[in-house]
Amino acid sequence: MRRSASAAIIAAVLLLSIASTSAFNITILLSRHPGFEVFNDLLSRTHLAGEINRRSTITVLAVANDRIGSITGKTEDIQRRILSDHVILDYYDLRKLDKIKEKRTILTTLFQASGVADDQQGFLAVVRRRDGSVMFGSAVRGAPLDARLEGPVAAYPYNISVLSISQPIIAPGIDGEWRSPPLRPPPPPPMAKAPAPVEKVSPPAPPPAESPVEEEPADAPASAPAPAPGPADAPSADAPAADADDNQEAAKKPNAAAKEVVTGVAFGLVVALASFLAA
Ligand SMILES: *[C@@H]1O[C@H](CO)[C@@H](O)[C@H](O)[C@H]1NC(C)=O
Ligand SMILES: *[C@@H]1O[C@H](CO)[C@@H](O)[C@H](O)[C@H]1NC(C)=O
Repeated sequence: MRRSASAAIIAAVLLLSIASTSAFNITILLSRHPGFEVFNDLLSRTHLAGEINRRSTITVLAVANDRIGSITGKTEDIQRRILSDHVILDYYDLRKLDKIKEKRTILTTLFQASGVADDQQGFLAVVRRRDGSVMFGSAVRGAPLDARLEGPVAAYPYNISVLSISQPIIAPGIDGEWRSPPLRPPPPPPMAKAPAPVEKVSPPAPPPAESPVEEEPADAPASAPAPAPGPADAPSADAPAADADDNQEAAKKPNAAAKEVVTGVAFGLVVALASFLAA
């Protein structure tokens, strides 16, 4: 009897922890995609990572290491303001952005939710140009739409989408300076300095072929190839295709309800066990 009671307690605790853990962790998610270490680190330092993880429907506009330079020198408070303007309080993936056509669409950010944004600083504007490019910028009047959508980084439909943009979006006045137009990022260096992903180990080089190389001088350098860099970042497994944008609204509620039910069931189980054991 003791054994089954403790097994039940363990099960209840497991259920509880499943119910209270969010399905995504932006820090872990970004760390699987080399090239965004600086942005990821800034999200943690400014404590925005925790705020992002607490949300259930969110889009993060991430900036690659080699494009983020203009933010790194700012104070932590300014960094937090700027980065929270890169967090959209809705789920946008490529498919949903496809639907905005050439209409200028306004998006609400986490900066707006912070309550300290002036004017339109807490909003972004996005437009899809005729050539198909998608451009983001601050919604502040006169601010340029010059941050180009580069592509998807990761997504858990319809909870979190991480998209890469070509440069930081710095709303006029957000950092106490008027910058018009925003500084152009330096051209990207030939090789991003991102470390190779840990999980991608190059296969051991095959042993050299037996046949002697007769026509080359004896002291020719061995043609052993340098350790090959890992293959280019493979299409991410955690970016499942979004198939049913239109179901998004419908999908929201049952999930939330399910989560509550799980929490409720687990809680009930613990309470019941506690009283059972106390009896
Ligand atoms: C997300 O992952 C980071 C790094 O492992 C960890 O420090 C942090 O506590 C996690 N946050 C949540 C909400 O699980
Ligand atoms: C995912 O989104 C749905 C709908 O908004 C929400 O009910 C659910 O709690 C979210 N999941 C997580 C882990 O945030």
